[in-house]
Amino acid sequence: MSKRHAAITAVNAWVPPDLLTNEDLIKLVDTTDEWIQTRTGIRERHILKGEGLGSSDIAVQAILPLLKKRGIGADEIELIICATTTPDMQFPATANIIGDKIGAVNAWGYDVNAACSGFIFALTTGAQFIETGKHKKVLVVGVDKMSSIIDYTDRATCVIFGDGGGAVLLEPDESGNGIIDSILRVDGSGRAFLHQKAGGSVKPATAETVAAREHFVYQEGQTVFKFAVTKMADVSAEIMERNHLQGDDISWLIPHQANKRIIDATARRMNVPDEKVTLNIERYGNTTNGTIPICLWEYENRFKKGDNIILAAFGGGFTWGSVYIKWAY
Ligand code: UT7
Repeated sequence: MSKRHAAITAVNAWVPPDLLTNEDLIKLVDTTDEWIQTRTGIRERHILKGEGLGSSDIAVQAILPLLKKRGIGADEIELIICATTTPDMQFPATANIIGDKIGAVNAWGYDVNAACSGFIFALTTGAQFIETGKHKKVLVVGVDKMSSIIDYTDRATCVIFGDGGGAVLLEPDESGNGIIDSILRVDGSGRAFLHQKAGGSVKPATAETVAAREHFVYQEGQTVFKFAVTKMADVSAEIMERNHLQGDDISWLIPHQANKRIIDATARRMNVPDEKVTLNIERYGNTTNGTIPICLWEYENRFKKGDNIILAAFGGGFTWGSVYIKWAY
């Protein structure tokens, strides 16, 4: 019997049905389909429409079929960790709201705020509760309704983001599979380049902050791009080296879907060929905390037990990291 690892034993994701295509964006801002596709790799995104709906509603759509798939009840979930940058409210945590909506009456939970790296931060955190033996069933959610904080008059950001999310179930595994290693980092000085100016305790919402459009995403794209390319590749190379993995040993690279050019650069640095890299940015855009669970869900049928999988992400904060998983089913 090998060490107890936390294994992903079920995955599911959901994106809302309404589409926002490049053609739709051309009607809103000064852009072209060609610019968006060549600079980002995105063709369309999904947008959550409807009064009173938030990130928790996307999460619930992903989680209920996941529980059914695994054949367990919501009352068996012990912990819900929700990675989100667009919580339903400032408080309470979206994890609490999800717990209530799915009927997880025996769970506790909390949110993780690490922008686009949130899902891998939450996954690593959740794994600790399994490894220590504290819990046997942990739900890790990555979800965002990015359309709630995007300025659809700002062509530099509105073409990138979409809504969506997903969840995984973590359970103990003693066969050698599961979450093997992770390297996570933050550099708060990077906050200058990607943040939301108002709505927090430093600058609470006022009529003036709303008029100045300060509740939307502010991004200096080029600077973020440069950091993302370097940091995502560095950390992925580091986790491979630490675990004695060569490019050939990697079954799948699952990168955060922020920009196809960042994904390509990371894969090149890791010496992983395109056919082993999950890619769906063209259909969903950047769903922030949603990208990695959505990739896991879309590619699940192609994974095999024992596959070496590397997750890699970079996000606002700055935050970044890499997780090494041996797929468990
Ligand atoms: O997910 C977490 C973190 N976020 C990221 O990883 C995003 C990282 N950044 C990026 O992906 C890219 O920087 C962007 C996609 C945001 C922008 O691409 P870029 O190649 O870095 O463009 P740029 O910001 O350097 O802008 C180049 C030009 C500018 O025009 P001038 O000054 O050269 O005349 C922009 O005004 O492209 C212009 N531009 C646009 N043109 C048409 C910016 N946005 C658009 C647009 N359509 N939507």
